[in-house]
Amino acid sequence: MKRFFLLSIVLLLAYGGVQAQAMKTKKPSKNTETVDGRATGVSLKIAESIPLPEPHKGLEVPLQQVLKHRQTVREFREEELSVEVLSSLLWCTYGFNRPEEAKRVVPSAVNCQEYDIYVFTREGVYLYDAKSHSLGRVTEGDHRSLISKQKFFGVAPVSIVLVANYDRMKMFKETADRDFYAAADCGYISQNIYLFCSAAELGTVACGGINRDGIHKLLGIKNGRAMLAHPVGMK
Ligand SMILES: Cc1cc2nc3c(=O)[nH]c(=O)nc-3n(C[C@H](O)[C@H](O)[C@H](O)COP(=O)(O)O)c2cc1C
Repeated sequence: MKRFFLLSIVLLLAYGGVQAQAMKTKKPSKNTETVDGRATGVSLKIAESIPLPEPHKGLEVPLQQVLKHRQTVREFREEELSVEVLSSLLWCTYGFNRPEEAKRVVPSAVNCQEYDIYVFTREGVYLYDAKSHSLGRVTEGDHRSLISKQKFFGVAPVSIVLVANYDRMKMFKETADRDFYAAADCGYISQNIYLFCSAAELGTVACGGINRDGIHKLLGIKNGRAMLAHPVGMK
């Protein structure tokens, strides 16, 4: 497997200031209730902001090879991902590729960019802020196994939960239209996770069979829906 520098996420989360070399280092901000400058729709406050290092490293893989190796993996090793890998994974999932236009690596219907990207780890649950390319801690503790009855959620070091935030979809007057576009937009994000994992020789699986009520309660989702979850880890 392509080797990344194995600084664990545990260390990242325990020592938020360790990213001295990070190109986008920022001071932690306390009690922010927004992500990407917009309302999150979550009732829990973001306790702490943790900057991520510059993404993109190790992504120079031909598209043909990436597509050839894209597949679902359900057996993971427990080893943590490096912070560099996590950074690139999140950028590929929902980062800004045209920050000057506030546009992302994935398209979205009417450019509503309705997704909130939650990262479940052993240490806690974090919300990805693409604008500052950082993680905001939503809650502490290991909640990975709450996501689903499928056992691999408790094994993979990271699970990404894709939550459609309906507060950003008010332009759709019909519920059926809103749900259709939320599902369509979700597919692009999910596929980006698959493609990154293929390129980085990691495993992932898109999971729709998840404990939505439990996730909504934990994250304080009042007007939205956890659509898919992706455990990610070494295979
Ligand atoms: C929308 C969606 C939901 C899925 N939900 C689950 C799931 O809940 N559990 C699971 O083990 N796999 C799930 N999968 C993975 C599929 O079973 C898998 O993609 C399919 O078997 C094809 O295998 P491949 O991805 O290796 O081509 C889901 C896939 C998609 C696209």
